Amino acid sequence: MTNAQKWVISALCIFLLLLFIEIKTKKEEQPVPQMPGQISQQQTTTSNDADGLTLINQNGCTSCHGSDLNGSAVAPALTSIKQYWTRDKLINYLRNPSSYSGDPRFDVYRSKYNAIMPAFNNIDVKELGKIADYLLTR
Ligand code: HEC
Repeated sequence: MTNAQKWVISALCIFLLLLFIEIKTKKEEQPVPQMPGQISQQQTTTSNDADGLTLINQNGCTSCHGSDLNGSAVAPALTSIKQYWTRDKLINYLRNPSSYSGDPRFDVYRSKYNAIMPAFNNIDVKELGKIADYLLTR
C-alpha cells in the first residue's frame, strides 16, 4: 500500500466516523414522545371558543343520546349523570368507555341498548372538559 492510499483510507475513516457521530447526535435531539392516557390538570383547564353543548352537537352525541340528551332506543339519557361522575372521571370515561364497564349500571345498559358508546380519544382533552362541564350541570 502506498502512502497516498493510506492517506485516502484514513481520511475516509474519519469522514465515516464524523457521519456516524452526526447521525447519533441527531437521533438524541428528537423530542421525547408524550405518554398517552395521563391528563394533566393544566391540559384540562378550558380556554377557547365552542361551548359544551355545541361540542356535543358537533361530535354526534345527540345521534345516539337523543336530540336533547333525554335518551333514545340506542343510548341512555345524559340528564342526571352528575350523581355518578366527577369531572376527571367523566373525561377519562369519554376517552375510554370500555374501562368503566365494570359498574352494574353498565350491565343494565348493555342488556338494554345494542349500540356501544364509542371512545372519543380523538377529541381534544380541553374540549372533552367542556363537554364534561356541560353534562355535569344537567
Ligand atoms: C353510537 C352511539 C353513541 C354515541 C355517538 C355516543 N354515545 Fe354515549 N353512550 C352510548 C351507549 C350505548 C351508552 C351506554 C353505556 C355503554 O353501552 O357503554 C353510552 C353511555 C354514555 C355515558 C355514560 C352514562 C352514564 O349513565 O353514566 C356518557 C356520559 C356518554 N355516553 C356521553 C356521550 C357523549 C358526550 C357523546 C359524544 C361525544 C356520546 N356519548 C356519544 C352510545 C353512544
